[in-house]
Amino acid sequence: MGFLKKVSNSIKNPKRAALVVFNKVDEGAGKKIFGNTTGVVRSMSGRSKLNNLLDPELKKTNPELFHLKKHGFTKYGNSYEKSLIDKLSEKFDELVENEKTSFPIGGYKGKIYSRAIRNPEKCFPELVKIITKDVRDFLTGYYNTNYKISHIFCGRNYSVPEKIKNETEMFSNFWHMDRDPSSQLKFFLYLSDVTEKDGPFTVQSKVRTKELIKAGFGNRDHYDLPLDVLEDNTFVNKMTGSRGTTLFGNVTTCLHKAGTPDEGHFRDLVQFIIDPSDKPFSDDWINSIEAYTDLKYYDPKTDTKRLITELNA
Ligand SMILES: [Fe+2]
Repeated sequence: MGFLKKVSNSIKNPKRAALVVFNKVDEGAGKKIFGNTTGVVRSMSGRSKLNNLLDPELKKTNPELFHLKKHGFTKYGNSYEKSLIDKLSEKFDELVENEKTSFPIGGYKGKIYSRAIRNPEKCFPELVKIITKDVRDFLTGYYNTNYKISHIFCGRNYSVPEKIKNETEMFSNFWHMDRDPSSQLKFFLYLSDVTEKDGPFTVQSKVRTKELIKAGFGNRDHYDLPLDVLEDNTFVNKMTGSRGTTLFGNVTTCLHKAGTPDEGHFRDLVQFIIDPSDKPFSDDWINSIEAYTDLKYYDPKTDTKRLITELNA
């Protein structure tokens, strides 16, 4: 949705209109200062909480952490028990298309293209075993402070017809940067095999992102750059991997998108959203997960989306 449309839609709600204007100004300043669309406030927020030291020794001792700090994303060889993945993906499969345990989050003209599982922290207590000691040590090296897992998201993306896949955004499948504090990190777990045909997490490095912003990248609603520049294969990383693959991504400083699965394909994903904390990490973390307020519910009857928080209000 364009800026003016957003403002005019918000005119009945002055607070919302002020927020739209603030975000626009903040985004413009953030592009100039930080080379991202995340905004100045969110870029500044929590910066000091990251361990930004890029010690060349780290490249040898912990290449995955080095890659994450330098480029903003990395594949991660996690040490969980392999049998856990079978159990998780079987349960995921049972829940994700059941109307009682899941809900649509993306669609177009009444057809659903993405679904999320309700209360994943309650459905999947097994997820505590994915956050191994190795993951915690890795996060200790990434942050300067304590950290916590704030939210969990579990969802399935489906194939989108060629005709509409570049016109309407279904499930974060347009290039963007998340509007969250730059200290936020996402940890992804694939629960289906993800080849290029299955809509992999697709990301560009921090450096390339800054170059694209400098070259004039607008935002997810209007790129303002030719696709052959924005999607130059030299710089685009399609993060494929078999079921059980884990990845880290700082999605506030790297341009990224969800790939769109080809016809007959889908992608199952768990996301852990990690933030700095003033308390030490707790073994009981799964019982302190907060509701994921960014999620929108897609109503196929009215072909509209509403924030989950508004629905529950
Ligand atoms: Fe995103």
